[in-house]
Amino acid sequence: MAENGVLHPERVLTLDTMNPNVKRVEYAVRGPIVQRAVQIEKELKEGVKKPFTEVLRANIGDCHAMGQRPITFLRQVLALCTYPELLEDNKFPEDAKSRARRFLAACGGGSIGSYSMSQGIELVRQDVARYIERRDGIPSNPDNIYLSSGASDAITTMLKLLISGEGATRTGVMISKPQYPLYSAALADLGAVQINYYLDESKNWSMDASELRRSLAEAKKHCTPRAICVINPGNPTGQVQSRQCIEDVIRFAAEENLFLMADEVYQDNIYAEGCEFNSFKKVLFEMGPKYSNKVELASFHSTSKCYMGECGFRGGYMELINLDPDVKVQLTKLVSVRLCPPVTGQALLDLVVNPPQPDEPSYPTYKKERAAVLAALADKAKMTEEIFNKVPGMSCNTVQGAMYAFPRIELPQKAIEAAKEKGQAPDMFYCMTLLEEKGICLVPGSGFGQREGTFHFRMTILPPTETLKVVLEKVEEFHRKFTEQYS
Ligand SMILES: Cc1ncc(COP(=O)(O)O)c(C=O)c1O
Repeated sequence: MAENGVLHPERVLTLDTMNPNVKRVEYAVRGPIVQRAVQIEKELKEGVKKPFTEVLRANIGDCHAMGQRPITFLRQVLALCTYPELLEDNKFPEDAKSRARRFLAACGGGSIGSYSMSQGIELVRQDVARYIERRDGIPSNPDNIYLSSGASDAITTMLKLLISGEGATRTGVMISKPQYPLYSAALADLGAVQINYYLDESKNWSMDASELRRSLAEAKKHCTPRAICVINPGNPTGQVQSRQCIEDVIRFAAEENLFLMADEVYQDNIYAEGCEFNSFKKVLFEMGPKYSNKVELASFHSTSKCYMGECGFRGGYMELINLDPDVKVQLTKLVSVRLCPPVTGQALLDLVVNPPQPDEPSYPTYKKERAAVLAALADKAKMTEEIFNKVPGMSCNTVQGAMYAFPRIELPQKAIEAAKEKGQAPDMFYCMTLLEEKGICLVPGSGFGQREGTFHFRMTILPPTETLKVVLEKVEEFHRKFTEQYS
């Protein structure tokens, strides 16, 4: 084949010869809908007439891209760290300057541009450990903390350590359905067996111990289950698991000898009355030594979500409990291959786990800004659920936490058939039509997994309130028209 005037008769790397696991990877959050949205935006720029003038994106949990303002203190310290000449500038508050000096003193050569230890800067790991202690009231050892490039990096690293065996001994990993597609993608990439356990939509997407047992028993017929992953608060489903559910999962992991992975990146995004965040680590230790001496746990946090939403800085950490010391050596070796997580992300994480204190000058602004972001998200969570529940043929569980609504939609048989003709999943067809007609970009439920015969979409609650209202009204209008058209 001639490309750029060059002949490539015998390429080494082709679709036939490439790693087949990579071909199996799917990531709906940036899938075909988003690609089409980008095309439509281009067409609009070129003057193509559409029934709308802009594409409204509610497909991805990218806070700042959706208009959320950064927290001033975080950016001040980062500015000072990246351009230390500003330490002489009297526009910056003293506490921001002292934080920047403290962080820079922990960097090689006093510069944020140098590599750090592969596990992450010790000072930051100490601050993370103190944060966890304040949060849980349980001791935390900085040596068990690994800093990462966002939570994604730490999650895939742990999965990599867990996967082994062939055929019936191949590692199986239990993940929820619906799930955040990082998990299915990483398991496909690593050639692991994906074991699905369903969340209970009729109980606001809670976990159910009998469903865990069902899914495990099924999986044991063809693989060796070794781990269970839980996302709490949930993505895409927006639930906050009760303490009871968390205890059930811990008991289950202990009984079945499963490594527990707790994805807690939305730990500050809790909105619904009566809901609270309980970390898996806290519950594990409060259940006593029978569990806390046994269950192996990796829990993950990130600078990408909550009130900061700084996903581009790629900050995150994991804490490991009861990890075999020999495996820890292997883990440290593995992370050293990628040298270190971004040092800017480590600086940011340090501020997130160690924010301004009440006696410091930046405290009032920090407190106000943080509270404003979380209060706006809480209002938007409520508004989204209320509006969706008024639409005939749509039902939406309470958005208790995280940043998403995952409403269920009833689709007429004729729409299901029309989708089939196009070779699309019915909810993909629905979301594509919504994009073409209204310029709204959502992600179909099929990208996250859902019970056979049910249909959903995921929408973020991140757009500014006025934009979100417009999005909700347009979705409502579209749903009514779509249902009528195909009935
Ligand atoms: C549940 C969950 N885990 C992990 C991540 C990864 O986030 P990051 O790698 O930016 O920390 C996300 C991002 O949306 C998420 O929703």
